[in-house]
Amino acid sequence: MQQVAAQFRTNLFRNYATSYRIIYIMYDLLLKQIESIIDKDIPLVSNLANVASILYTMDDVNWAGFYLSDKDRLILGPFQGEVACTIIPLDKGVCGAAASKKETIIVDDVNAFKGHIACSSKSKSEIVVPLLKGNQLIGVIDIDSPIYSRFSSVEKEFLEKVSSLIAALI
Ligand code: SME
Repeated sequence: MQQVAAQFRTNLFRNYATSYRIIYIMYDLLLKQIESIIDKDIPLVSNLANVASILYTMDDVNWAGFYLSDKDRLILGPFQGEVACTIIPLDKGVCGAAASKKETIIVDDVNAFKGHIACSSKSKSEIVVPLLKGNQLIGVIDIDSPIYSRFSSVEKEFLEKVSSLIAALI
């Protein structure tokens, strides 16, 4: 019995490790897709539109896009998903918090985040990653999911790489 339990644990760990490897491979492919589509010679808004389209193919995502820095607020940029709020002050929402702190914010349950701006009642969790050129805020990447706790350090790592690729275009 002990042997069966040990084997079960080993298999469980192997499956877990395999799933993780697959997720990393998947994000690596998305990153390569983004690298191949973005182009320094076309307007930023066109690049962001294509990146939003690629990010929207992530599993369990119901909104993917950008808010761009405009004086002391964020304005809606290219996105995929339902219509969204157009202006976010820097002291409001997950986007405003990530933009003013200039750091990635992961929210496992949007209803538990004070000040969260609900653009869609379908969104349950969210990740917002700042777009920085040096220390200058360009905007944020915002991804919503219809399931709780969708985003982890794996998505943070992936989206921060996407953010760096975009910053290099500016
Ligand atoms: N939930 C965001 C607002 C933007 S939508 O999710 C597209 C926030 O709290 O800042």
